[in-house]
Amino acid sequence: MAQRIDGRKIASQIKNELAEEMTRLKAENFRVCLAVIQVGEDPASSVYVNNKKKACALIGIESLSFELRQEASERELLSLITFLNTEPKVTGILVQLPLPAHINERNIFEAINPDKDVDGFHPLNIGRLWTGEKGFLPCTPAGILQLLKRSRISLDGKNCVIIGRSNIVGKPLAALLLQENATVSIAHSRTKNLPALAKQADILIVAVGQKEMITSEYVKKGAVVIDVGIHRDENNKLCGDVDFADVESIASAITPVPGGVGPMTIAMLMDNCVSISRN
Ligand code: GUN
Repeated sequence: MAQRIDGRKIASQIKNELAEEMTRLKAENFRVCLAVIQVGEDPASSVYVNNKKKACALIGIESLSFELRQEASERELLSLITFLNTEPKVTGILVQLPLPAHINERNIFEAINPDKDVDGFHPLNIGRLWTGEKGFLPCTPAGILQLLKRSRISLDGKNCVIIGRSNIVGKPLAALLLQENATVSIAHSRTKNLPALAKQADILIVAVGQKEMITSEYVKKGAVVIDVGIHRDENNKLCGDVDFADVESIASAITPVPGGVGPMTIAMLMDNCVSISRN
C-alpha cells in the first residue's frame, strides 16, 4: 500500500517556518504586505481569497483586499495595479483567477511589477524560471516540488511524466523538474497511447482536470503519484484526477485529495511573499 503524502502537514511546517522568519524580520522593522485583488464574486474564488488572507494573518503578513465589480473594466483593473506597483507599503500583488471574460489575463499579468509578482505569472518570471535565474516560482508547481523534497523523494535522473500542459501547472512544473535533473515528458489531450507513456513514469503528476481519470492502468508499480485535480464526486465528496482507491494499491507514494497538493499552493504563496526580504 502506498505511503500517503500529507500535504496539510508539510504546508503547516512551511507556514510555521515562515511565521518564525516573519518574527525575525519584524524585529528588524521589515514589513511584508500582500495586496489581493478579486474581480466579481465567484464563490470558489472568494473561498480561495479568504484562505490566502487567513494564511497571511497566521504568518504575520499584512494583507489588503481590493474587490472590483464583475463588470469592472480592464482599464480599471490596470489602473489599480499601476497604483499598487509603486505603492511602497505593498510588497506583493495577487490577482485572483479566473477573471471575467472581458478582461485579457495576459495584459494583467504583464502589468504587474515583476518584483511584486508573487504568483510568478509575469513573462519575465516565466523566463527566469526556464533559464534557472532567481525569480518568483508559480505556487502550485513550487508546492509539488516541496512535497517531493520534504518526502525525501529524489528527482535526479528520474522519469517524470506530467499529464496536463497548462501555463499555471504543467509547463512551469516541467521547468522546475528539469532544474532538478529529472527527465521530463509533458502529455496532453493529443498524446498517443497515454497509458503506455504514463506507465514509464517513476513520478507521475496529473493535472488534467478530469475526475478520477487515472486508474492503475496508467501507473507503474512503485511509482510516485501526485494529483493536482480537485472535483466533487456523485456523493458531493472531494476527489482528484486520480482514482485514489485503485492507484493506492500499486503506487509507492500518493497525494490524497483533499489534503495533498491543495494546501501547498497557499504555503508557497506565503513563501513567495516572505522571499522578498531574502534578496
Ligand atoms: N486561481 C486558481 N489558481 C490560482 C493561482 O495559483 N493564482 C491565482 N491568482 N488565481 C488562481
